[in-house]
Amino acid sequence: MSDSSQLKVQASSVIRNIGQLVTVAQQPIAGAHGPLQVIPHAALAVHRGLIVWIGPDDDAEPMFQHTTTTSGDGITIVDAGGAVVTPGLVDSHTHLVFAGDRAEEFHLRRAGVSYGELLAQGRGILTTMYATRNAATEALIEQATARLDTMRAHGTTTVEAKTGYGLDKITEETCLRIINNLNALGESGIHKPGRVRVVPTFLGAHTIPPEYREQRNAYVDLLVEEMLPSFVGLARFCDVFCEREAFTLEESRRILTRAKELDYQLKVHADQLSPSGGAMLAAELGAVSADHLDFASDADLAAMREAGVVATLLPGASYTLRSPYPSARRFIDAGLHVALATDCNPGTSYCENMQMILGLAMSSMGMTVEEALTAATINGARALALQDDIGSVEVGKRCELTFWSIKDYHEIGYHFGVNLVQSVLVKW
Ligand code: NIG
Ligand code: FE
Repeated sequence: MSDSSQLKVQASSVIRNIGQLVTVAQQPIAGAHGPLQVIPHAALAVHRGLIVWIGPDDDAEPMFQHTTTTSGDGITIVDAGGAVVTPGLVDSHTHLVFAGDRAEEFHLRRAGVSYGELLAQGRGILTTMYATRNAATEALIEQATARLDTMRAHGTTTVEAKTGYGLDKITEETCLRIINNLNALGESGIHKPGRVRVVPTFLGAHTIPPEYREQRNAYVDLLVEEMLPSFVGLARFCDVFCEREAFTLEESRRILTRAKELDYQLKVHADQLSPSGGAMLAAELGAVSADHLDFASDADLAAMREAGVVATLLPGASYTLRSPYPSARRFIDAGLHVALATDCNPGTSYCENMQMILGLAMSSMGMTVEEALTAATINGARALALQDDIGSVEVGKRCELTFWSIKDYHEIGYHFGVNLVQSVLVKW
């Protein structure tokens, strides 16, 4: 074998002429610079859905010009046209499946009625629960698909999707099946082109449904004894809204402990509207992430760091509820991995667009563009326990990329209110 042939890499496709490859690599890469490990004028090669080579575009020519795939087909060459390429954005917290809208409540809040008051009046989450229970499955699928398409058009390639608007066994199961089918790999395991990766989360513990208002323990029993055991395999995560208006700390502990026994991974809606103890609980039970955290104390942050819990911040909710934004700096300085997500839901953050979230994180939560991009890629992957597969552009990771119609990643957050994403590429 000659020296040059030893250099050759087996690849099915090569992406050439990338203006700026923002790898967000977790290991130093030759030729890359800065905190995001950026390679100017880069190329990238893929084989069987995995990244097999990245480097300067000038080095790509000799590497791939004569190589063929095992099947004997030639390599597909994609010209990125000088685009900025980043890891596909990871939206690690969404309430994707729901019917109806809550525009009226949005405007009532402008008139001074709080989110907690609406929930206590039997509106809020329950308004959406009624609409979701009454919706045809086809309508739920159609609306969730439209939201996913919007997410993808704005650069997202992996989406976590929660149930939580059924709050009875039948509707929760329907929503979980919808989420599984929306996944690019579907329940059948057959890849559906044009789809994104969807990670299912069971959030039956979103609030107490009206039929159990006077017997809340019976609803917790239903969650623990019936729903959780029968949804094993349909949901990867179990989440609980641990809050005054939803589930107490003790109820949350009981639900999550059972979920853990059944091998679900855990998430907690923690300390959003008041200091609920949710972040501590997340640390105690080894949750993958604790989300919101507006009222988390320094002791909560220390416990989360100790337990390796990712802090997921959701500025869309602060924007919509007009509540103070949590300081991302405080979480980063406490040594936590911070993820950013849309929290897309009809009540507190009706937004599918991760670029808006990146912008808010920079304008209102004190994040640098590098921190925000890290939070929306590799740390989003961490919040889904997928950091070994996705979230950065590195050899061995899945090829899930976002192509931006900008010249430099510093334009992200600066040029706002428009879609800067050209396309995404998800190769399985
Ligand atoms: O993450 N806080 C609880 N759950 C959602 C809101 C759901 C809703 O209002 O419909 C959230 O903000
Ligand atoms: Fe949420």
